[in-house]
Amino acid sequence: MARPKIALIGAGMIGGTLAHMAAMKELGDIVLFDIAEGMPEGKALDIAESGPSEGFDANLKGTQSYADIAGADVCIVTAGVPRKPGMSRDDLLGINLKVMKSVGEGIKEHAPDAFVICITNPLDAMVWALQQFSGLPANKVCGMAGVLDSARFRHFLAEEFGVSMKDVTAFVLGGHGDTMVPLARYSTVGGIPLPDLVEMGWTTQDKLDAIIQRTRDGGAEIVGLLKTGSAYYAPATSAIEMAVAYLKDQKRVLPCAAYVEDALGLKGLYVGVPTVIGANGVEKVIDIKMNKDEQAMFDKSVDAVKGLVKACKEIDNTLA
Ligand code: APR
Repeated sequence: MARPKIALIGAGMIGGTLAHMAAMKELGDIVLFDIAEGMPEGKALDIAESGPSEGFDANLKGTQSYADIAGADVCIVTAGVPRKPGMSRDDLLGINLKVMKSVGEGIKEHAPDAFVICITNPLDAMVWALQQFSGLPANKVCGMAGVLDSARFRHFLAEEFGVSMKDVTAFVLGGHGDTMVPLARYSTVGGIPLPDLVEMGWTTQDKLDAIIQRTRDGGAEIVGLLKTGSAYYAPATSAIEMAVAYLKDQKRVLPCAAYVEDALGLKGLYVGVPTVIGANGVEKVIDIKMNKDEQAMFDKSVDAVKGLVKACKEIDNTLA
């Protein structure tokens, strides 16, 4: 059986990290596509030359031609510009919308059967636009944000409680922006929900609130430290987790920016929700119950996403 083919559209900081991880995990053969000349070829060769020492079998190719992504099983999209200090994800909208148009057309023509994971920001609006431009079924186009935001939340919680992050589960919903909704009630340490841990005196509500805010600001914290770009190790790792769920039909329960046809009080919108990912892509959106406060936070986040989608339609009137 031929190896799966993984196409990485955008070979910058996240794209390069994705290629290295996919090779090390032997997920398949890898194509790095970018408009920049030489850079994807250079990264492909550099990673291939790490193969003999690491002992992985994977072919790597760098390219500027969409024809090379032909028949890809998975496309992970990072093409576009990242944030600089002081910029919000939403500031990227105009530039990255144009990029999504060319990427969507490239995927439509050469890899229409792929499972597409978008990482480009502002995430929820870009994944919606990418689905529109590519015309792929909505269950095959999703965005990576919830896995990353939840991983950041889990990391901060594991530090606070002094326990292994393996025993911390966490749930972040809504748009991938300042209004994202880390849900304390559905987040646990060893199965014990966070509000119970506050009652038990393991932490205080103030500390928990500070962790929730740090999670919301998690991307900006890294941008502020790096100064020349945004996070790439954790975003790449999160997208690989989603790609593996698809390639290995794992039926993982993962939060991601998925098309919600009719659930969580929403109809017809891409936003961060809990999903099941398996061989059919996003196989299910989990229609969880929220209390009044959670619903209010989620609604606010949904409104922010709707605002971005509206702005996209104003920029490009071919978008329905
Ligand atoms: N087609 C293909 N590649 C493109 C295009 C295009 N139309 N326009 C830009 N690119 C490439 C750039 O040449 C660059 O190599 O996209 C790559 C982006 O890489 P980086 O600038 O290193 O950005 P990165 O940190 O990887 O983040 C990419 O993910 O998290 C989001 O906000 C982030 O939107 C940003 C994206």
